[in-house]
Amino acid sequence: MNVVRTVADLRAAVTRARNDGKRIGFVPTMGNLHAGHIALVKKAGQRADFVVASIFVNPLQFGPNEDLANYPRTLTADQDKLFEAGCHLLFAPSVEEMYPHGQAMQTIVRVPGVSEGLCGGSRPGHFDGVSTVVTKLFNMVLPDLAVFGQKDFQQLAVIRTMVRDLNMPVQIIGEPIVRAEDGLALSSRNGYLSTEERALAPMLYRILGEMAEAIRNGDRNFPALLAHGHQALLTAGLRPDYLEIRNAVDLQPAASDTNELVILVAAFLGKTRLIDNLIVDATQPSPL
Ligand code: PAF
Repeated sequence: MNVVRTVADLRAAVTRARNDGKRIGFVPTMGNLHAGHIALVKKAGQRADFVVASIFVNPLQFGPNEDLANYPRTLTADQDKLFEAGCHLLFAPSVEEMYPHGQAMQTIVRVPGVSEGLCGGSRPGHFDGVSTVVTKLFNMVLPDLAVFGQKDFQQLAVIRTMVRDLNMPVQIIGEPIVRAEDGLALSSRNGYLSTEERALAPMLYRILGEMAEAIRNGDRNFPALLAHGHQALLTAGLRPDYLEIRNAVDLQPAASDTNELVILVAAFLGKTRLIDNLIVDATQPSPL
C-alpha cells in the first residue's frame, strides 16, 4: 500500500491506476480504524479495482467545544489495518494541505433540509464541514464510487443529497452498521467510555430494538413510543440528545402510514456522545 500526503502525489497515483483501466473506489475516514471502517474498505474492494482510503481529522466539522484536540490519532496502526483489508492507496494529508488558504475563508458546501435537525441541530455547522471536506476529497480522488457507513445515517443522507444536487459523478454506497457482540455500534468514540459506561452503552441498541419491535407489531403511536424510549434511556443512565422516528428515505418526520422508517438516537454517556440508528421495515412482522 502506497501512502501519500499531498494532493499532487494522490492525483499522480490515482491517475496511474485509472490509466491502467482500473475502477476507483474511495473510503474517506478520520482514522482510529475499527471493524466498521474495515468493512467499508472491503466493500470498496468488491466493487472497484483500486481502493483509496483517506485519513483526515477534519477541523471544519468539529464545534468549538467538541473533541477535535483529543480525537484519537493512530496512523501507524491504521496503516497496517488498511493494508490487510486490501487498500491500495492511503491519503493522509495535513490540515495545511487540505486548507492551504485557511479555514475561515474556505468555500463551504451546504446541503439544506436533510442536514438540519438531529445531529445538525445539536452540532451547528457540523454537516457544512462534512459536505465541504467530502466535496474536496471527491475532487481530489475523482472516485467512481465511495463507501460510507450507515451508522452516520444523516451524514449518508447529506452526502447522497449533495451528490444528486451537484451532479457529482460518483456512486454512493451505504454499508450496514458493524456492532460489537453486545450490540453496541462500533465507533471511534467508544474508546472514550469508562469500563462502567461501556457496560451500559449497549442499552442504546436494546432500546432501539424494543421500539422497532413494537412498530413491527403494529404500534403506530409514535409520540407514545418516543416518550417511552426517552424514559428508558434515562432509566438506563443515558442522557438523550434526541430520539426520533423518521422516514428512512428522506429523513422527514414519519407519518403513521410511513413504512420505511428509521429510529435515530444520540445520547450522552458521561461526557461521550454516542449515536445509533435502526432501520425498520414496518411491513415486516417482528421476527420474535
Ligand atoms: O464519517 C467520517 O469519518 C467523517 O465525517 C468523514 C466522512 C470522513 C468526513 O470527514
